Amino acid sequence: MADTMTGLKRTGYCGETTREQLGKEVVVCGWVQKIRDKGMLVFVDLRDRTGLVQLAFDDATDAALRAKAQTVRAEYVLMAKGTVRARESINKDLPNGDVEVYVDDLRILAKANTPPFEITDSTKVGEELRLKYRYLDLRRGRMQRNLLLRHRIVKAARDYFDGQGFLEIETPNLIRSTPEGARDYLVPSRVHPGSFYALPQSPQLYKQLLMLSGYDRYMQVARCYRDEDLRADRQPEFTQIDLEMSFVDEEDVLGVTEGFIRHVFKEVLDVDVQLPLRRMEYKDAMERYGSDKPDTRFGLELCDLTDLVKDTEFHVFRDAAAAGGSVRGINVKGAAAQLSRKDMDKLADFVKTYRAKGLAFTRLTPEGESSSYEKYLSPGEVSALRERLGARSGDVLLLVADGKNQVVFDSLGALRGELAKRLGLIRPGTFDLLWITEFPLLEYDDEENRYVAKHHPFTSPMLEDLDLLESDPGNCRARAYDIILNGTEAGGGSIRINDPDLQRRMFAALGFTPEQAQQRFGFLLDAFQYGAPPHGGLALGLDRLVMLMAGEESIKEVIAFPKVQNASELMTGAPGPVEEKDLRELSIQVKLP
Ligand code: AMO
Repeated sequence: MADTMTGLKRTGYCGETTREQLGKEVVVCGWVQKIRDKGMLVFVDLRDRTGLVQLAFDDATDAALRAKAQTVRAEYVLMAKGTVRARESINKDLPNGDVEVYVDDLRILAKANTPPFEITDSTKVGEELRLKYRYLDLRRGRMQRNLLLRHRIVKAARDYFDGQGFLEIETPNLIRSTPEGARDYLVPSRVHPGSFYALPQSPQLYKQLLMLSGYDRYMQVARCYRDEDLRADRQPEFTQIDLEMSFVDEEDVLGVTEGFIRHVFKEVLDVDVQLPLRRMEYKDAMERYGSDKPDTRFGLELCDLTDLVKDTEFHVFRDAAAAGGSVRGINVKGAAAQLSRKDMDKLADFVKTYRAKGLAFTRLTPEGESSSYEKYLSPGEVSALRERLGARSGDVLLLVADGKNQVVFDSLGALRGELAKRLGLIRPGTFDLLWITEFPLLEYDDEENRYVAKHHPFTSPMLEDLDLLESDPGNCRARAYDIILNGTEAGGGSIRINDPDLQRRMFAALGFTPEQAQQRFGFLLDAFQYGAPPHGGLALGLDRLVMLMAGEESIKEVIAFPKVQNASELMTGAPGPVEEKDLRELSIQVKLP
């Protein structure tokens, strides 16, 4: 039988036991980090979510008590009463390494098996093991710091938006499926056999309807669900700090968001963010960085070379230009010594994962130049390309040619990031924030053979581009904006359509017949007949914001119980099969492929 807590009450946390309590009696509780048994001297490091404190037993300790201390093992749960005293040998690695608790009552509240990995920040443990035993992994200081940071960010959000007159209103999690965007998670209805709820990809429609109902400034820390491929910054369920405001234009939404960003960085990290944030138009971001979420903490900008090689003999470049694509390059200044010939092959493999057919390179090492493409070009073309790229001795020129501009942008955009990582161009601990504006409203989907909304179908076109909606949809710009933090899309939003006629034109541009639009979004179109104020909003990805503020590389590190690549949760084994009887109640029959 384990000991009980009877007669004792915890007086404080381990990590908060400091010199201030010298000479006082305290009761601390926690898990055993480590035990050092030197016979007459026994030391136990006790850990809770605030840190560690040393428990001490010596030759003056009651022999039975000292013998009990000698039986404890890593991760046992203890409660200890004693007096705070100065330590003989100070541990400089601990903030409270100058004190210890000299114990006179020890309770072993629970024993523990030997954990599958040591609970410290320094042990290297595979992700699978960490997530299978997440409850142990969460005992580690790093995870506890991340979850504390997350809590403080959420609190800062609620405080800030409350101060700005926003109301937090919950929206449902079982909603009607309105496919557009990612794939929905579906939930079968027992009461309506054959019908399904969807889990919300975001509260988008509800928050717009709340504007219609007059709730003006809405915010919600909202769970969202999207059945899409996982990445380092994507989870199937994630959280947004979601906002919507009435009687506003872009400046209002950007302004209130910037205010929050400044508030949260100051409150949580004591970092001063300079406002207003920089703004960049979508097309400039693509041209210069090959990405609509550019990392502008380093240069390596793209350079368009298409006009210089459109008539060249070299068919790879000529064909790309002729197909309406482009030839673009990056000059990696002074990197010839760091990027070997072998690296060129590795980087070529890297860009191929972004559908590029290859990577053309020139290495201008002082000992000699080597190039994969210059031999196919005329001397005039070679010097024109070098001049445009500003090439000097020691530089490396990296080019991608493709008949599809998107492939050139995607591959060079990703290559920039890869190069910055390899060459150590990013100073850690810096925060680079900017807005991307004037997004295209629509993008052509080759699979569906129709335009789809780049943001979502309720985003308003830019007023000066309204006519393009029918005449040149691909060039119609949106009143949409994304906020980018260190090359990650931290949030996005738009000014919405509040005019039912314009909403119908938008649905038509998306290829829906009026009947299809009515069938899918009828409730919204109907609602908009009853006085919809001009409105707009934005959602910040909370997990991503926490990840970036914590300096982590994956959002899994800031989510208590995340899912892995194949969308399963390793600890509980979700998703799992269910009882035949449950399926019957739902009128569902499973037919595996
Ligand atoms: P959007 O789809 O751009 O907009 O999402 C807003 C922000 O949410 C984060 N995010 C994700 N984070 C983790 N895992 C995911 N799978 C994931 N998907 C998105 C990103 C993103 O910028 N309703 C609109 C917002 C609006 O218009 O007001 C929306 O959901 O940081």
